[in-house]
Amino acid sequence: DKAGYKHFMAKEIAEQPTVLQGALAHYINADGTAVTLPEPGIDFTQIERLTLVACGTAYYACMVAKYWFEQIARLPVEIDVASEFRYREPPVTPGTVALFVSQSGETADTLAALRYMEGKADKILSVVNVPESSIARESDLALPILAGTEIGVASTKAFTCQLTTLAILALKAAQARGHMDEDALAEKLAGLRALPGIMNLALQIESRTDQLATKLAEARDILFLGRGAMYPLAHEGALKLKEISYIHAEAYASGELKHGPIALVDKHVPVIVMAPRDALFDKTISNMQEVMARGGKVLLITDAEGAKEAGEGVWETILMPEIDPFLAPILYALPAQLLAYHTAVAKGTDVDQPRNLAKSVTVE
Ligand code: F6R
Repeated sequence: DKAGYKHFMAKEIAEQPTVLQGALAHYINADGTAVTLPEPGIDFTQIERLTLVACGTAYYACMVAKYWFEQIARLPVEIDVASEFRYREPPVTPGTVALFVSQSGETADTLAALRYMEGKADKILSVVNVPESSIARESDLALPILAGTEIGVASTKAFTCQLTTLAILALKAAQARGHMDEDALAEKLAGLRALPGIMNLALQIESRTDQLATKLAEARDILFLGRGAMYPLAHEGALKLKEISYIHAEAYASGELKHGPIALVDKHVPVIVMAPRDALFDKTISNMQEVMARGGKVLLITDAEGAKEAGEGVWETILMPEIDPFLAPILYALPAQLLAYHTAVAKGTDVDQPRNLAKSVTVE
């Protein structure tokens, strides 16, 4: 049931604040001071290395999580796409915990990667949307993301719920490993609990993304740029756009553009810059200016203060609410999803059932 929406994808984008609230209530205790994990829990003090493996959108959630676990929990993280992971025959050292992220819990490559780690990793964890799935059943501990059934082939609410679950795990790890005191943890948890409200505000950019979509729909190629934890979001934006609008889109780390891909930039290529005001903002903006100096049409996604600091010459801007940089990757999923959705609608493609794609990929 599309609940009055034109597509399941639109419904699933809109319900993110609500499902996220449910996930937060599941993992944060009532007074907002502690993270509650299902039994037997995870002892993060015993972990030397975390290996994150997934496919597609779930892989981009892992890419964001790598920044979180490394920055706030000081835990070394290795990450790979499931279809490559086991062919590397990665040596597994003691103290390694493997974590698999999968909406369906049935993705063949992710399941095969999990089986490769059986008997090698100290523990196998999973972050899944379907608790009865193979990946959940074969894990020592399966953490549900509680997104509810996702029908649109392009993953939306599962992504933000995966990110939220991983953020909570990273906070738990930071506290357990002595890198975050009680007050700091409570502050971050309060920030997470405020996120559904901020997401509701951010969803007001929808009319803006709808306007911009008619312009983006004319492009043959679109580039997405981001730095730090926004780099995976650039990938997610490009993937969403490719899969439902069939426009060729690529993501680059902002600083990497000058090492080659900037040769692609001309007045026909929109460049979407995801730039929340975080510690890397100034650097991202200077990369954006390099693009503009070569005639690139920049669509800047930032907050009001960021737009002011970015100055003149930007082609278009999407103004986001202010957000703690730690949570920006979750909030900035919304413009990535909405731009792809409205561009696909403008092009008249089959949004919920894009060509050549299946919701659950059970072949390797
Ligand atoms: C993209 C998308 C896919 C899935 C990928 C993994 O919108 O939905 O990239 O993320 O096929 O699927 P799961 O999470 O079910 O393992």
